[in-house]
Amino acid sequence: MTIIKTETAQQYYQDNQQNLLEEFLHFLRIPSVSTDLLHKTDILAAVTVLEKKLNDIGLDDVKIFPTPGHPILYAEKTIDPEKPTILFYGHYDVQPPDPIDAWRHPPFEPHLEDNYLFARGASDMKGQIWATISALESLVKTNTLAVNIKLIFEGEEEIGSPSLEKFLSENKDLLACEIVLNPDGGMLAADKPTIIYALRGMAYFELRIYGPKADLHSGIFGGVIDNPANILSQVIAGMHDKEGRITLPGFYDQVREISEEETLQLSEIGMDEAFFRGITGVTSLGGEKEFAPIVRVGARPTLDVNGLYAGYIDKGAKTIIPAYAMAKISTRLVPDQNPDMVHKSLRAYLEKTMPGTVRWELDFLSGAPAYIVEDQAPGVDIFVNALRKTWGVEPLFKREGGSIPVATSMKNILGVDSIITGFGLPDDQIHSPNERLHLPTHRKGVKALIHFLSSF
Ligand code: BES
Ligand code: MN
Repeated sequence: MTIIKTETAQQYYQDNQQNLLEEFLHFLRIPSVSTDLLHKTDILAAVTVLEKKLNDIGLDDVKIFPTPGHPILYAEKTIDPEKPTILFYGHYDVQPPDPIDAWRHPPFEPHLEDNYLFARGASDMKGQIWATISALESLVKTNTLAVNIKLIFEGEEEIGSPSLEKFLSENKDLLACEIVLNPDGGMLAADKPTIIYALRGMAYFELRIYGPKADLHSGIFGGVIDNPANILSQVIAGMHDKEGRITLPGFYDQVREISEEETLQLSEIGMDEAFFRGITGVTSLGGEKEFAPIVRVGARPTLDVNGLYAGYIDKGAKTIIPAYAMAKISTRLVPDQNPDMVHKSLRAYLEKTMPGTVRWELDFLSGAPAYIVEDQAPGVDIFVNALRKTWGVEPLFKREGGSIPVATSMKNILGVDSIITGFGLPDDQIHSPNERLHLPTHRKGVKALIHFLSSF
């Protein structure tokens, strides 16, 4: 019976793939960038497209919940109250497309080339939302959905999900479920289906340094007036030592060490030096050399400057002491580190290091703790089976260096661990120019989801 159900739905997907792809392209054309209020109407357009699509598929109670930021979309389908309920998560917002000039085709004009679909959000994560939608349509339209489902799609993930926790708390009953499936992760390679059991957390800051009341001639004043750009550079340089360790006081105090056994397991999945060199094009790796690369990204905290601004950055030379300098700084956190503690630690470092010749301000933009599944996420065995059946290989379990704050919030508020997965690849160039989606892998992902949802 189950096999017949799966095959009927798989056949539907085969027959309707082209339509689903065209609708997906339409969704990708909407520049739903969450950082920029200029895109408010695009955000609404994106959520409206999803609302309509979920209604067309035949889901029930499709509803848009306004928030102080961008809206959250909810929908459900109850098959049989005796059966478990799976809650799907997605985010329909995307990262800003800049630097625009580095795109070979405009970011919001999807471009198909060989097996790839290029567009901002193609992989992170409109493509994953579309995989979910494609699977659900195939099951609902053929009456083969074997489990109850609920969906939430938010529009603020890329800015740290500021409205989500309140929504989860206020709608605990509505969202009650046995299983959570979050496809905002990714896989290690096209032939390596992957389940993520840990994510890093994040604390994000903006640091501003103010010197003289206006930009000054650097000849008249150089030597007596401290330069905010010089000071910012010194302060940032001092945040790491020569071994690649972060120097902020107490920064590592809460870090949970990874066990030797887990290190060994992770070292077997192949994320070695060559893997990182291959994807990024660098000749050698940085960071804490005493840890293996997979441990460095999965189980060690890091600090990165995401953006810098100071002084004159146009063509040619201009001799000034700038009045102002700014840096965007993010830290990736591991289990047991607390974003507020990291904030305190950064502030303590700045108080100790910053000279009295300038004034400075530090804003804490967003924070989310790391996530780790201590036991096993409910439903993971069934999902593993669906991946195994689709790819014909044993799925990998890994830690991910990226962050998905909702996983921790769902665990705390709904009490359910997430199956974190996804059908994007490490070289999809997410958050970068020329983001792309590997379509054959995407289609396998849909098949795996159909398998999963018809095998209860
Ligand atoms: N989908 C990513 C997270 C991710 C990246 C998972 C790589 C697996 C592999 C997600 O949309 C994302 O980028 N999150 C932000 C979170 C932040 C804004 C709180 C991130 O990691 O920078
Ligand atoms: Mn994402």
